[in-house]
Amino acid sequence: MSTPNPGGRVLSGMRPTGRLHLGNYHGALRNWVRLQYEFECYFFIADWHMLTTGYEDTAALPQHVHEVLIDWLAAGLNPGVATLFVQSHVPEHAELHLLLSMITPLSWLERVPSYKDQQEQLKNQDLTTYGFLGYPLLQSADILVYRAQHVPVGEDQVAHVELTRETARRFNHLYGREPDFEEKVERAVKALGGRNTTLYRQLRRKYQESGDHEALERARALVQGVSRLTVADRDRLLGYLEGTGVTILPEPQALLTDTPKVPGLDGRKMSKSYGNTIELREDPQAVTRKLRAMKTDPSRARRTDPGEPTRCPVWDLHKIYSSEEVRRWAADGCRSAGIGCLECKQPVIDKIVAEVTALRGRAQEYTENPELLRDIVAEGSEKARDTARETLEEVRRAMHLRTD
Ligand code: TRP
Ligand code: SF4
Repeated sequence: MSTPNPGGRVLSGMRPTGRLHLGNYHGALRNWVRLQYEFECYFFIADWHMLTTGYEDTAALPQHVHEVLIDWLAAGLNPGVATLFVQSHVPEHAELHLLLSMITPLSWLERVPSYKDQQEQLKNQDLTTYGFLGYPLLQSADILVYRAQHVPVGEDQVAHVELTRETARRFNHLYGREPDFEEKVERAVKALGGRNTTLYRQLRRKYQESGDHEALERARALVQGVSRLTVADRDRLLGYLEGTGVTILPEPQALLTDTPKVPGLDGRKMSKSYGNTIELREDPQAVTRKLRAMKTDPSRARRTDPGEPTRCPVWDLHKIYSSEEVRRWAADGCRSAGIGCLECKQPVIDKIVAEVTALRGRAQEYTENPELLRDIVAEGSEKARDTARETLEEVRRAMHLRTD
């Protein structure tokens, strides 16, 4: 049984980078776990995206997909409520990407900030390929193929959602016009019935003549509120409000959530490429060892030197894991040199050890029964395909391509 669609549809993806770490957990995964009970959620492993920055060595890809999937399940993503799948199992992403590539100006892709940024940062990888340039558009296809309203992403991905919106707008503008749109929409306006017909016309005029956004919102609510309309008529009425045609691909929104800063062991942001991570299923002894060696405020060279928590990465972990009371104890003890760093770290170590232990426990079922994972992915990918196929049917029809 999946969550119905009360708040709309959510889609997000994650690259299969191998075992996830606490940064991935607090930055994204924990948020997804919460969202799955509020929205109709589609979460996928973006294996094709991985190829856009690393096409040479793909041997570890299946293992990495497998590890991420286990981490997802261990963290509490529930295949009974959310649709969990692997991108390459749903070829409709590729078809939509191809079709969108026909209408996307090169300049749109060249000006996506991550294009130049990544080329500068990942100097040892070949990022001069067609696939790398097109990867934000592949992401747009990922989102639009499910007609998702909300896309939970980090700050660094907002530009990609913006590109998705522009692409959807362009697609709708080019192909959202039916030949007999005016006639059909007129019939749909009448189908609203009586007072609603009059009100719809008034609100539309108000919005079109004076850009009154409240009128637009009221008209939209009116259309949404009339339950006996067909889906096609509802789309026409919504499209007509803004003077466009039918909205075939709705524009999604980035869903930004406040996420805590997760420091790595060296004090920089936790990231696999820095080698400063604690994995979600890390061995508890390794967790303890790593955290005991973690960087602290450099001004506390000796036990008797007072420190400043706001200059210490361990403090960021206290903010995630410790109660108000423990935090006060740590901050006071640090500033007065009343406690040592190892003492200060202990409550954090205890919490993280408990967390990874719980995750390891929940992962066990899946590490021992790989066929469970296969079933979950097969079922999720099939569900995702059903939705994606519907979109592609409409897209092909709108573009006058064969539908079968
Ligand atoms: N590009 C995203 C990343 O690197 C992953 C991703 C791929 C994604 N497709 C997506 C995220 C669609 C949200 C929606 O993290
Ligand atoms: Fe950091 Fe705690 Fe040491 Fe202060 S006492 S420097 S907060 S680890």
